[in-house]
Amino acid sequence: MKYMTTAQIREAYLHYFEEKGCKRLPSSSLVPDDPSLLLTSAGMVQFKPYFLQLKHLEEPYIGTTTVQKCVRTNDIDIIGTDGRHLSFFEMLGNFSFGAYFKKEMCAWALDFSVNVLELPFEKLYFTVFEDDDETIGIWEGLGVDPSHITRLGEDDNFWRAGPTGPCGPCSEVYYDQGPEVGCGRPDCAPGCDCDRFLEYWNLVFTQYDGQEDGSFKPLPKKNIDTGMGLERIAAIMQGVQSNFDTDVLHGLIEVAQRVTGKRYGENEKDDRALRVMADHARSVTFMISDGILPGNEGREYVLRRLLRRAVMKGSLLGAEGAFMGQFVDNIVEVMGDVYPQIVENRELINRVVLSEEERFGATLRQGRAYLEDALASLEGDELSGAQAFTLHDTYGFPLEVTEEICAEAGISVNREEFDEYMERQRTRARAATQNDAEAAWSTYDGSMSALLEEVGATQFTGYDENETEARVLALVSGGKRVEAMEAGMQGGVVLDRTPFYAEMGGQVGDTGELVSEACLVKVSDTLQPEGGLTMHHVEVEEGRIAVGQKVAARIDVMRRERIRRNHSATHILHKALREVLGDHVKQAGSYVAPDRLRFDFTHFQACTREELDEVERIANEKIMQNLPVSTYECSLDEARAAGVTALFGEKYGEVVRVVDVQGFSQELCGGTHVRSTAEIGLVKISSQSSVGASLRRIEAVTSFDAIAYLNRIEGELRETAAELKVPLFDVSERTAGNLAELKRIQHQFNRAKQAAMEGDIMDAAESGRYVAKAGYPVFILKAKDLRAEGLRHSWDVLRAQVQGDCAVVLASENEGKPLLLAAGTEQAVAAGFHAGEIIRAIAPHIKGGGGGKPTMAQAGGKDAQGIDAALEHAREILL
Ligand code: SER
Repeated sequence: MKYMTTAQIREAYLHYFEEKGCKRLPSSSLVPDDPSLLLTSAGMVQFKPYFLQLKHLEEPYIGTTTVQKCVRTNDIDIIGTDGRHLSFFEMLGNFSFGAYFKKEMCAWALDFSVNVLELPFEKLYFTVFEDDDETIGIWEGLGVDPSHITRLGEDDNFWRAGPTGPCGPCSEVYYDQGPEVGCGRPDCAPGCDCDRFLEYWNLVFTQYDGQEDGSFKPLPKKNIDTGMGLERIAAIMQGVQSNFDTDVLHGLIEVAQRVTGKRYGENEKDDRALRVMADHARSVTFMISDGILPGNEGREYVLRRLLRRAVMKGSLLGAEGAFMGQFVDNIVEVMGDVYPQIVENRELINRVVLSEEERFGATLRQGRAYLEDALASLEGDELSGAQAFTLHDTYGFPLEVTEEICAEAGISVNREEFDEYMERQRTRARAATQNDAEAAWSTYDGSMSALLEEVGATQFTGYDENETEARVLALVSGGKRVEAMEAGMQGGVVLDRTPFYAEMGGQVGDTGELVSEACLVKVSDTLQPEGGLTMHHVEVEEGRIAVGQKVAARIDVMRRERIRRNHSATHILHKALREVLGDHVKQAGSYVAPDRLRFDFTHFQACTREELDEVERIANEKIMQNLPVSTYECSLDEARAAGVTALFGEKYGEVVRVVDVQGFSQELCGGTHVRSTAEIGLVKISSQSSVGASLRRIEAVTSFDAIAYLNRIEGELRETAAELKVPLFDVSERTAGNLAELKRIQHQFNRAKQAAMEGDIMDAAESGRYVAKAGYPVFILKAKDLRAEGLRHSWDVLRAQVQGDCAVVLASENEGKPLLLAAGTEQAVAAGFHAGEIIRAIAPHIKGGGGGKPTMAQAGGKDAQGIDAALEHAREILL
């Protein structure tokens, strides 16, 4: 059979479908532009709006073709146990949005398999959805023997990306690896659990839009969505049984061998761990490259879990120190030409991985010790959810990692109880962050995507206008669609066009009003509950607003002005940070409000004052140069070629909007900006902090808020100067002088206090001086208000006074707490004195405990009333 490298297969596939008329498009980000999905798990994800006919492909293309990076973790437990399952994989796909359908697709699938890949026709098998006679007819018409076609049910042959959205029946293509690979049963066929028939291509006939109530609504057109697992087909083309033996993945197995010192193929248990490391390393690399950072929620948690699972596997096999970077290097080398972003982000990926490894490494040992203790003292065969939660919360052990370690000892984990703890923690976090607008929307009982489909996307006019004539298309109040809202009612308004910017990309939503002869409506926030659908959060002040009505939609212009200044300042600070700190600085989040801005970015240590000063200086220089700020649209490729900064975690359609601060910063952004930088007036960084592993945050203010901030600082300074009675700019010098003076006085005071204390001790000494049985002098007395340190000092004073053998038993009551100290010279000890024993004997009188060496021992207690009895007891022992 023909041998093909992974790169050759990838190119042959894309080329084949390009020739058929499909447009070749890049892989989309692993962070999907789709709130219903955590991660991009299939090639079709970026095309959902096309299946729904919300977006259209330009002429003359009949479809699209891609190689899509995908992450799936639903069967994470299986990964490593065989050679087929991967958390990260590449999916080759072609997609039709109403142009070609089953007949063409089946013919091309067969043609590509037999004539391009040159797979033997007789080794190909096919499955179809149970009642899909049409597809059976098509395969048979193409010459497929009926014995090579199996009907399968919904579990296997009905495909959906998530609970809702485009879906449909599918037909799969299998390669027969031969009876020797399989279970040997006579009825073995595609769909059997064994390895004989390997599915490599899924052809989905995307005909339905799955609704939230579980029903299927036919899509306007019949579509095609296909996915070919690149690693699986590579294994077939390279004559190997496992994905991990292909040209792309075997290098990662080699890295895993190198860092653990184990040999692949010697021991199945070790092999599993090596495969997990090789697989997870790819997910980790690509996820970070697409802007995901390790965290405790959502996709960030998926990343943390994969990364920690790989690190844990490695360390259980004996790998030492940080080793994940070695995987990253290999991946960048082998896959960087197809995915240039991982090359661009190489340093960032390495640093994030390293810092997470270091963080985890520090707790790994403690966590393992905790778990070992927990297992050792376990009654029964179940670890409690509370313990698993402690491991998660305190030691950063993902639940699955705890489960795996437990499973090796034959112990299960109480998942239900663990989930309860997690839920409680999440509820607390949610309660802390949810704002009113969100709360109002979370009550809506309908589907936002259905609403979007019904009324269409809202046209945004706010780049050019502050006021727009618009028509009311839908109203939602009290969680239901309504026809009208009266004065006093709250809810959401959908318009056909609007100048209100909906919260997005960190920029807060606009506020303002909707006005007509019939109503006055206040808009307190603007959101997009579904991509393209703008929802105005309102309260009706006067009159009545109704569906169909025309209104003037007016934003609060002054507020928007302030937001625009802050948004442009955010871009300028981003660029200035990169200039000062380096290119590893990437935006990880931002918040642009009227009164302040916040910018989170990747950086690995705190910024120095000098660095921040320099960032601020550059930013203000750009502001003062009054650079024009313009926006233009272009393709993502053109933007990349022009070196435009693509922000972290954002996902872009094909046409992107670039915000260009002339000659300084170019960023993809949909937000609203100033026309030239001087409008910003001034920027001041007001704080910096750490907000997670490798993440820094700066906050800043601009224009009038920057002046207000500076005025406040000046006000504080003036007040201090007045208090100090010095000119404004002498404050720091005078303060330093005053502090030095204060220190000197404190020192003097301490010395005086000590002298007084020594005097007190000496005064008291005479009355407490005895002669021990053994003949040396011993002081047994009570001092005033001394702490342990003062008691020890008293011992020094007394022994200096005696200048020979002696011993003491001292007591003190300090802030109600009794203290005891016994001490003796070496000679006293030689004569039988034992401080430790004395303290042990007398400490119970003060309800305390303690002990120590023969020469020195002390004790604290709870009952100061017992001091006299304790000293009396000491006298009995010694005299
Ligand atoms: N969406 C289908 C799958 O992921 C085909 O691309 O299998």
